[in-house]
Amino acid sequence: MRHLIDIQQLSREDISRLIETALDIIENPGRYSEVCRHKKLATLFFEPSTRTRLSFEAAMYELGGDVLGFSESNSSSAAKGESVSDTARTVGCYADIIAMRHPKEGAPLVASRTAGVPVINAGDGGHNHPTQTLADLLTIYREKGSFNNLTIGCCGDLKFGRTVHSLISAMSRYENVKFVLISPEELKVPKYIKTDVLEANNIPYIESTSLEDNIGKLDILYMTRVQRERFFNEADYLRLKDSYVLTPEKLKAAKADLSVMHPLPRVNEISVAVDDDPRACYFKQVLNGKYMRMALILKLLEVAV
Ligand code: NCD
Repeated sequence: MRHLIDIQQLSREDISRLIETALDIIENPGRYSEVCRHKKLATLFFEPSTRTRLSFEAAMYELGGDVLGFSESNSSSAAKGESVSDTARTVGCYADIIAMRHPKEGAPLVASRTAGVPVINAGDGGHNHPTQTLADLLTIYREKGSFNNLTIGCCGDLKFGRTVHSLISAMSRYENVKFVLISPEELKVPKYIKTDVLEANNIPYIESTSLEDNIGKLDILYMTRVQRERFFNEADYLRLKDSYVLTPEKLKAAKADLSVMHPLPRVNEISVAVDDDPRACYFKQVLNGKYMRMALILKLLEVAV
């Protein structure tokens, strides 16, 4: 049984093959439009989502398959106290593949043990978000042509921002990659990412509280939202929420070929005036996410095209 719980489960070769498939889907959508006929994807979302859930559903429809599921936990039996493993075991009787988002770290892993069908982690608490990273990787590949020789700035809530954890994990396997980790003191990247991922792979990184001091050296600037729902108190959220706001003024100091990325939703971290800058890539990420989820579904269902 194959699942995607953590991006590290995919080798560099696996990533290359998924990207090749996604690029082929973009070129030849008609070849893929019936390949998942009579297959069902279940989307089990215990937390809010726009892009991840709808892109999974659009991906399955574009492969000719069907979709079932729920988009809030209080409309499922979780509200009656059912465990994640029982819910997964149940849904595995109806669907061929499951995409699950849950506020608890590790819930999709638990689900994968009883589901009997492939389970995809669509975001678990403040931990991981491997399919957002697949969207990010296709975007980086299409913008830069390679994953090597990049200085990547991650800015905002690096503590609770699960997309950043998975992105660092994926990019740490390529050549001559450096990270600039920009956050308030309270929202620095968790220690295990530094020791087990960055230092274990000899990846150079610096930590800073200043976007202005660092923007000029970056090839990629990955902005993130302060993750309000993971805070223990509202006062801390209000104090930290506008720590970084990217504006056209600040972008003047950036490289001409910088790629500005953001997993979205944005709250206030990127001024809408940046949207027209050719360096803004965040809506390209949205579309790339659908193609990579199509490629992932094909891989996990072992559909030959
Ligand atoms: C992200 C998430 O859910 O972690 N959104 C997404 O899936 N594109 C980022 C966020 O919510 O800030």
